[in-house]
Amino acid sequence: MNGQRKKIGIMTGGGDCPGLNAVIRAIVKTAINIYGYEVVGFLDGYMGLVNNRFRKLGTGDVSGLLDKGGTILGTTDSFDPFAMEMDVNGEKQEKDMSGRIADNLRMHDIDALITIGGINTITIAHRLSQKGINVVAVPKNIDNDIPGTDVTVGFISAVNTAAHALDKLHSTAESHHRVMILEVMGRRAGWVALESGIAGGADIILIPEIPYDIKAIARKILERKNKGKGFSIICVSEGCRPKDQAEADKESRNIHKTLHGAGSMIAAELDKIINLETRVTVLGYLQRGGEPSPSDRILSTRLGVEAVNMIAQGDYNKMAGIVNDQLTPIDLAEVAGRCKYVPIDGELVRIARNMGVSFGD
Ligand code: F6P
Repeated sequence: MNGQRKKIGIMTGGGDCPGLNAVIRAIVKTAINIYGYEVVGFLDGYMGLVNNRFRKLGTGDVSGLLDKGGTILGTTDSFDPFAMEMDVNGEKQEKDMSGRIADNLRMHDIDALITIGGINTITIAHRLSQKGINVVAVPKNIDNDIPGTDVTVGFISAVNTAAHALDKLHSTAESHHRVMILEVMGRRAGWVALESGIAGGADIILIPEIPYDIKAIARKILERKNKGKGFSIICVSEGCRPKDQAEADKESRNIHKTLHGAGSMIAAELDKIINLETRVTVLGYLQRGGEPSPSDRILSTRLGVEAVNMIAQGDYNKMAGIVNDQLTPIDLAEVAGRCKYVPIDGELVRIARNMGVSFGD
């Protein structure tokens, strides 16, 4: 470390989302304009840290980034430096290359690394901190499944996209007397489906935390039909499962692997038991792309500034979280390897049920 003039490394890991560039912009402007630090951006997540692929970042590099989707640093969402796949004499082997990260950070004379990422990125950051690397994490992903923070960068923008998609589906569902299924992302938690479903007025919301019974879904649809509503809107989380599969997964302690196709599976099952047409829309990567919402820009800026403040205070090996709208540093140990699931008796599920929403149970 060269005196008080610190040097910060930053990287973006995991799935991209709206708001990543706004975080980078806040970090660079705070580091340079407020603290006089230098900033080095590593490219494509942890891969860039292992292979020393980087670009120096100045305030000019982040000008105009606030409303730009994606990440100027690039990212990877399935690279683990502790188990890097190598081809050794034609044989695939996994090698721990985390030492290269420490070497490269030392070579750049970097005092602390800011990792902007989801659960996997933060879990690896925690392991790096145990090797003596100073780390501060910024919670990011559209899934909002990171414990220790009420909200993650990218989540609000994804909910906006999904809610507006549901708005659009209402008119065509009503015109054709159809059941419209929108499959949204969220990995193994149902936050995107729950919040966009409430915001978009879905009649049925299916989330991984509440395994569904296809007969209960059909009953809700027919109930609506008997009241003169010949159409229904179903918001399906990609990770949702029928009750019997959830039971089987629990028995086999199998982590629910398939994260695609839930919507089509439900449509096929409904076609067998109701005489309404069903149609499926998979929103997919539209939830990951595009510009951050104004709320996400504010959240990204708050967390980016806070991450640099934590480095200035030497408050390492923590995640900059938001709890009850207060900036709250959380030990990485309390976040790594965990997942924040929707509380099935929580307030949001309760208010949805009060609005007449069925969760397929
Ligand atoms: O974690 C963000 C996310 O978009 C999940 O919601 C989704 O299941 C996953 O990433 C998709 O991963 P990939 O970009 O590797 O297809």
